[in-house]
Amino acid sequence: MRSHYCGDLNREQVGQEVSLSGWVHRRRDHGGVIFIDLRDRSGLIQVVIDPDNPETFRLAEQARGEFVLRVEGLVRPRPEGTENPDMPTGEVEVLARVLTILNSSETPPIQLDDHGRDAAEELRLRYRYIDLRRPEMQERLRQRSRITRNLRNFLDAHGFLDIETPILTKSTPEGARDYLVPSRTHPGEFFALPQSPQLFKQLLMMSGMDRYYQIARCFRDEDLRADRQPEFTQLDIEVSFMDEDELMDLTEEMIRRLFREVLGAELPNPLPRLTYAESMRRFGSDRPDLRVPLELIDVADLMTEVDFKVFAGPAKDPEGRVVALRLPKGGELSRKAIDDYGQFVGIYGAKGLAYIKVNDWTGQGREGLQSPILKFLPDAAVAGIMARTGAQDGDLVFFGADKANVVNEAIGALRVKLGQDLGLMAEGWHPLWVVDFPMFEREPHTGRWTALHHPFTSPKEDQIGLLESNPGACLSRAYDMVLNGTEIGGGSIRIHREEVQRQVLKLLAISDEQAEDRFGFLLRALKYGCPPHGGLAFGMDRLVMLMTGASSIRDVMAFPKTQTAACLLTSAPSPVDQAQLNELALRVKSRP
Ligand code: AMO
Ligand code: AMP
Repeated sequence: MRSHYCGDLNREQVGQEVSLSGWVHRRRDHGGVIFIDLRDRSGLIQVVIDPDNPETFRLAEQARGEFVLRVEGLVRPRPEGTENPDMPTGEVEVLARVLTILNSSETPPIQLDDHGRDAAEELRLRYRYIDLRRPEMQERLRQRSRITRNLRNFLDAHGFLDIETPILTKSTPEGARDYLVPSRTHPGEFFALPQSPQLFKQLLMMSGMDRYYQIARCFRDEDLRADRQPEFTQLDIEVSFMDEDELMDLTEEMIRRLFREVLGAELPNPLPRLTYAESMRRFGSDRPDLRVPLELIDVADLMTEVDFKVFAGPAKDPEGRVVALRLPKGGELSRKAIDDYGQFVGIYGAKGLAYIKVNDWTGQGREGLQSPILKFLPDAAVAGIMARTGAQDGDLVFFGADKANVVNEAIGALRVKLGQDLGLMAEGWHPLWVVDFPMFEREPHTGRWTALHHPFTSPKEDQIGLLESNPGACLSRAYDMVLNGTEIGGGSIRIHREEVQRQVLKLLAISDEQAEDRFGFLLRALKYGCPPHGGLAFGMDRLVMLMTGASSIRDVMAFPKTQTAACLLTSAPSPVDQAQLNELALRVKSRP
């Protein structure tokens, strides 16, 4: 049906007979001559249909947008002056000799030119097969395929085995709700879809596989955002007998090679590493966007004695934090803009956003500052703030004061927002590793310890003692790779000794009975010669989103789900027959 792809034609084929198959992208009638831009996944070619060829001409007249055609004809140079330098095939055209309409099409609900991008996302998802015909979407999926292939090649060359793990399985704790699948053969019992292959890949290390990888589908029933889907893909990796430095070296080399070979971009070697503590202190986040040249500066020690409870309270509270964020040239911000940023931090629970406008500190000192909180601040505090932030005339200094987690979230987000709004973002790729995560954090309401990563993450060897004495201070052997403010991957060295695993589960208030019930198979396996091992998983959707410049992971998945975890194309999820429910021994309580 085809000798060439449309987009591959150029001067080289001039004089050749070719046959093409594709879709009518556009049809134009020009005083007796018909032009059809024929499209396939490689691009567009202009087909000319001459009235001298009446049978072909009659068919061309019937063709409408998205009709499927086969065209046989002669490649010829476009007449001088009609070349289109914006089109890769713009120097040539195909004079149709035979034209076959392979199928007709109704008027598509989405335009396939540049306007298609602006179509409502609901429409794009419902008619995904048309949306995916858009060159922009085709290029993203093609890029995704290149990226996956490049990563596979690297791992293959380094001796990794691609091994599949079950989809119908038992709950893997990654912190989200499970998707459950009822069992027909075991009435009243359920499989869980994997939140990740975590436990199986550890079992594969215990099986002596040494180096494993998988492009693995994961399922998590959690609140969705632009970079989260209920069903997503990980590049999942696990190795035996490597420590965290070796593992990070190997995987960052893989990512460096990926960016070099697919994008022609050179990432730093080695990637910078930042401890969790430093990342939180300087950026208020464990996935800092290093493109933004602003940092949080602690000023609590300057505020303990000020006559302003909003600052003095958190300054004296061991769990509180008071920070300044200097915005160079921020004095130009309008009152309204500042108020809007106050609203913005409110989303993250901040109760206000104090600021000092530095009009003329050099000339007038204190009199040259403008601020709703100046009256509360003694000279020493003001001088301290100015010195520590390095604020210059014309700058603005924002303040956040609250529990540390509120300040970190609010001012951390403000930092990125200011960077985006004011065009402060540096160009290019800014990856890093975040390391030395705490093992545990306290659940705010219950005060219970939860694992920051997952419960199989190893504490640092020299800190195992802290598991009993001071769990909050115990650091783990976990690491995350962060790129331009997005966590693209994360993992850890695992616990390989049964008694340490039991100790950690106990700390997480998982009783022996629960542990046996949920991961008894893993605990048992730890007793039979488990090698030291560790690994990580990259979020493929996020990685591809960043590498293609897409703004949502939905744009790099062929068939994504909506924000409410539904598939508009197939109308899933959907009710099932009573007979199916009976077979599964299920009764639905109520249907809204
Ligand atoms: P983690 O939960 O950090 O680790 O997941 C690894 C990476 O997967 C991506 N990711 C997601 N992408 C899209 N939608 C989601 N809902 C979603 N959730 C996570 C992120 C993240 O960095 N088993 C461990 C890995 C390990 O320890 O080896 C795990 O799953 O990019
Ligand atoms: P108030 O006395 O409540 O009017 O607050 C005085 C200034 O402090 C205003 O600019 C508020 O936006 C700001 N402010 C109030 N609470 C906080 C807070 N928790 N962190 C930072 N600034 C705050």
